[in-house]
Amino acid sequence: MDGNSLIKKFLKKGITVSPDVADYISERDFYRIMESEKNIDHIDEESLSEIRKNKKCYENGLETDIVIEKCFTGKEEGKDVDEFVQYFNDRFFRLKEFLMNRVELSDAISIGRLKGYNDREDVSIIGMVSRKYKVNSGRWIVYVEDDTGMTKVLVDEDEGEWIVSDEVVGFKGVVGDDIVFASEVIRPDVPLSREYGETDEEVYAAFLSDLHFGSKDAFGNKALKFAEWVCSGKGVANKIGYIFLNGDIVEGIGNYPGQENDLDVHDVYSQYDEFREFVDVIPEHIQVVVTPGNHDVVRMAEPQPPLPRKVCSELHDRENVHFLSNPATVTIHGFSSGGIRVLLYHGYSFDGHVDSIPDLRENAYEDPCRCMVDYIKRRHLAPMYGSNLLSPEDRDYLVIDMVPDIFVMGHTHGFSISNYKGINLISSGTMQSQTSFQKRMGHKPDPGKIAMVNLMTRDVKVKEV
Ligand SMILES: [Fe+2]
Repeated sequence: MDGNSLIKKFLKKGITVSPDVADYISERDFYRIMESEKNIDHIDEESLSEIRKNKKCYENGLETDIVIEKCFTGKEEGKDVDEFVQYFNDRFFRLKEFLMNRVELSDAISIGRLKGYNDREDVSIIGMVSRKYKVNSGRWIVYVEDDTGMTKVLVDEDEGEWIVSDEVVGFKGVVGDDIVFASEVIRPDVPLSREYGETDEEVYAAFLSDLHFGSKDAFGNKALKFAEWVCSGKGVANKIGYIFLNGDIVEGIGNYPGQENDLDVHDVYSQYDEFREFVDVIPEHIQVVVTPGNHDVVRMAEPQPPLPRKVCSELHDRENVHFLSNPATVTIHGFSSGGIRVLLYHGYSFDGHVDSIPDLRENAYEDPCRCMVDYIKRRHLAPMYGSNLLSPEDRDYLVIDMVPDIFVMGHTHGFSISNYKGINLISSGTMQSQTSFQKRMGHKPDPGKIAMVNLMTRDVKVKEV
């Protein structure tokens, strides 16, 4: 909100603003004043400083703690064939390790050793899928390879529909002539018996994404309404310790042809100024995690580095605001217990991945958590090369190597919550109404819903603004 609009907002409440503070008074001050028990009709330097000192309305004594476990901060450099080879090797060997931990695959052999096996002999193998095609019977021929060789695998119709290129997968079956007849397809998945994160204090984490500040369709007022509610400390708001903002912070510029017609704010820095005003309303005792999405100013290729200091430099200076990469992993509230591990991924690979699997193509736009379950089973956030733009780093940052307690994705603008093997799944919706682009694509967003997880019980409340 620009200075004039803010001053008008004060005037509507019968409060005049002295010219000496007009340049720096903020939206957050407005909420501080609204929450103040004092009767205020004029703001000058002295009264503003007094109000800023009085944090009664938004401090609740709640202690918070955040540990960053995984955040990509590497620099953008030219990539060549070697980097791609290293990247795919890293992906293969790490996912292979998860598969080797599956009891069914404990006897898996290298593909190169298949030659020594007799016809119809039982066998288990692990490989990366290079391609597949359907044969007349409806079944699928899948080509898989490891570092020792390549083989064909015959897979039944239903299982074959779920296989995508570049995923790392295990097969149990029998050996044929230059082929393996698969009876079972096994994915890395997460074990049920594992250490689960916990906290012994009732504290909440709230999850938002796709705020799209600067878009004509953005409900910036809904985002502010949420921040205002948090600031009020009413009900659960008083127990919120963490707020996650998972990408597409602003609408950006030049993301698609004709986007300029959908913009309310045409300068990207000014779009981030609107975002800063929103964060300014959030009390400082709350840890705020900000990650980028495909509309933000960082590179499109994933992993995306954190938003740079040149946008929102004031927020970078705040101790409670953490700018992280996409994807990123953090552990929160690990005081006397291990804390709760949160995996954040904006979700750009969603469209390409969902499009390649009939079941997901039909159902995942209604319920994005279906795709999230699939990612967990494959232990990868973009199993198919080409579903996202990729920057091959020294390692594959999109492998889900640490099992999260909460997995949150945005991007689809659809809101849904679910649970898979003890992991809270959150598709964090949006603060943007249906855009003309989404109307053309037939995508219906679900704006204004915010998932809030009770970190002690892992129950989820939904706040609607
Ligand atoms: Fe978005």
